[in-house]
Amino acid sequence: MKSIRLRAAIAALFSVGTSMACAGAARGDNPSVYIVASQATHAGIAAFAHDAQYRLGASGETLVIARVEAGDVDALSRYVHENEHRCGGFFAFESLREAESFLADDHRAQASAQPAGAAYTIDNHAAVDPWLPQVDATHIHDTIQTLSAFRNRYYGSPHGKAAAESIRGMWQALASDRADVDVELFTGCADCATQPSVIMTLHGNERANEVVVIGGHLDSINHYEGDYGDEQDAPGADDDASGIATLTEVARIALASGWRPQRTIKFMGYAAEEVGLRGSNAVATKFAAEGVNVAGVLQLDMTNYKDGAAYDMQRITDYSDASLNAWFGDLFDAYLVPLGFVLSDLECGYGCSDHASWTARGYPSGMMFEAGRPRDESDPWDLGDFPYIHSAGDTLANMDDSAIPSVKFAQFGLAFVGELGKTSERIFADGFEG
Ligand code: BES
Ligand code: ZN
Repeated sequence: MKSIRLRAAIAALFSVGTSMACAGAARGDNPSVYIVASQATHAGIAAFAHDAQYRLGASGETLVIARVEAGDVDALSRYVHENEHRCGGFFAFESLREAESFLADDHRAQASAQPAGAAYTIDNHAAVDPWLPQVDATHIHDTIQTLSAFRNRYYGSPHGKAAAESIRGMWQALASDRADVDVELFTGCADCATQPSVIMTLHGNERANEVVVIGGHLDSINHYEGDYGDEQDAPGADDDASGIATLTEVARIALASGWRPQRTIKFMGYAAEEVGLRGSNAVATKFAAEGVNVAGVLQLDMTNYKDGAAYDMQRITDYSDASLNAWFGDLFDAYLVPLGFVLSDLECGYGCSDHASWTARGYPSGMMFEAGRPRDESDPWDLGDFPYIHSAGDTLANMDDSAIPSVKFAQFGLAFVGELGKTSERIFADGFEG
């Protein structure tokens, strides 16, 4: 019940012209408070708001969490009241954690209101089994190397645009002898600056209007250099060159096998994830507006850090679809357990990657993540198991110069596309029409 009230409160807050009681901020003795505001509100109060981080709202809008000196809260309220003609267009909390959990509650309410995703079968071993031993760590390694060699893939920098174009080139090369594959740059994102998303479409043979999405984000960021300039050093080898390299390997193997799926498969490299899931949000919003039927979405974001002792892969349990996650578990049991791998679960606590953009638009979506505990960025002392995220140290060299951890993610990706895309009955597995 609490979360339903929160949803209503957020909806009221961000619809202009609504009259809200002027709520006092939660303060106590803490010299700082943490606010959750719309992007528009944040733009007006940027002078007071520090350490801004972007989050995805439950309806797909970008929100900002920022720290404000307690002494500035009244000035901030005044600004919002005078400029936005409503009271306090933000929520304030005593800690960053409370601000995050406020948003998480809102998202949980949204997720539970969604229809459950379909339960899918697992019966296409004939296509998937021969693919799994073909996954080649050297290919994944080389793609990570190519992408992390860009100075950065920041959404606003020329390097970020060039990196997207290089992914288009790589994917075009994989599809050069396939008339049923298109590669496009998606530029329909108003707040992605010059960075396009990249989409490769393998058209389905029998149920072409049903779409299977496998994606990762192509941008990177350095949170430690301060100015987010064009020349920031942001190799983003794990976050998320690894995901792009992994899904590129899925595409290489599936296309080379001559496979013709029943459903349409879309491979996606999203722009501007690191600044609020912007690229994926634009794509998912367009799909929803056009009524595109998406059967399922798999996000691969960070696949290459070394394996944990007790498990190999983590399924993200929040901002994702519960029944798709159950099916991910069945897929893992069918294809990865026999290879000796172990699955675990992890809750991000907020919409931590592009799977959340699809969830916010009502599509069944989920994400698989590397082993190990991520760094808690709200705690400066916590390094987690992968200490290099969003820094100049996110390099292949800091991952033993190896892409072996990503191999199992490519295998999971192949199982995902093979089972959800299935195999056209009109086409033999070798690609010739029967
Ligand atoms: N790869 C990270 C998300 C992540 C980090 C997932 C650690 C699981 C464990 C992603 O690129 C990212 O940095 N996301 C942003 C969120 C976004 C809304 C700006 C983040 O976590 O701050
Ligand atoms: Zn990141």
